[in-house]
Amino acid sequence: MARLDHVLFPGSFDPLTSGHVDLVHRALTFCDVVTLGVLDHSGKKPLFTADERVEIIKEVFAELGERVRAEAFSGLLVDFARRIPVSVIIRGLRATSDYDYEAQMALMNRSLGGNIETLFLSTRAQFSYISSSLVKQIASLGGDVSHLVPPAVSHALQRRK
Ligand code: PNS
Repeated sequence: MARLDHVLFPGSFDPLTSGHVDLVHRALTFCDVVTLGVLDHSGKKPLFTADERVEIIKEVFAELGERVRAEAFSGLLVDFARRIPVSVIIRGLRATSDYDYEAQMALMNRSLGGNIETLFLSTRAQFSYISSSLVKQIASLGGDVSHLVPPAVSHALQRRK
C-alpha cells in the first residue's frame, strides 16, 4: 500500500481507550500524521469536555510529537476534513455489529462530497470488547479500568469521581 501523508481519526473519545491508542499506532505504520478529530457534541453531555479530551489525547501521544495531533470539531466531519485538509478517514471495526453503522457513515460522508475515503481497521482481538461507554460505566461504579485505558485516562477518570 502506498504510504499516506495524513489521515483523520474522528470520534467522541469520551474517553480515549486502549483500543483507540492501538489503532493510532497501527495507522502510523502506513501514514506520517494522524489527527484525532474530537467531536464537540452539541446535544450530548459528555463526561469530559472536548478541550479536556483533546488535552488527554495530547498527553497520551506526547512522545510522538507532531505525528499525532488532536483537535476538537463540531459540525460536519467532511467540512472538518476539508479544513485540515485530509481526504482519508480511519475508523476501527470491533465486530460485525459495528459494520452497519460504520458503512452507513462512510457512504454518507462520501455522498457529502470532498472525495473522502474511509479506511476500516479491524480492532485487535484483545481490545474488541472495549468501548468508551462501558469504561465510563465501570469507572462510575468504582471498578478498575486501568487495563482498558491509558494511564492518563485512568487518572482523569479517578479525578472525575
Ligand atoms: O466515537 P463515535 O461517537 O462513534 O464517533 C462518531 C463520529 C464523531 C465519527 C460521528 O458522529 C461524526 O462524524 N459526527 C459529525 C457529524 C457528521 O458529520 N454527521 C454526518 C456523517 S454520518
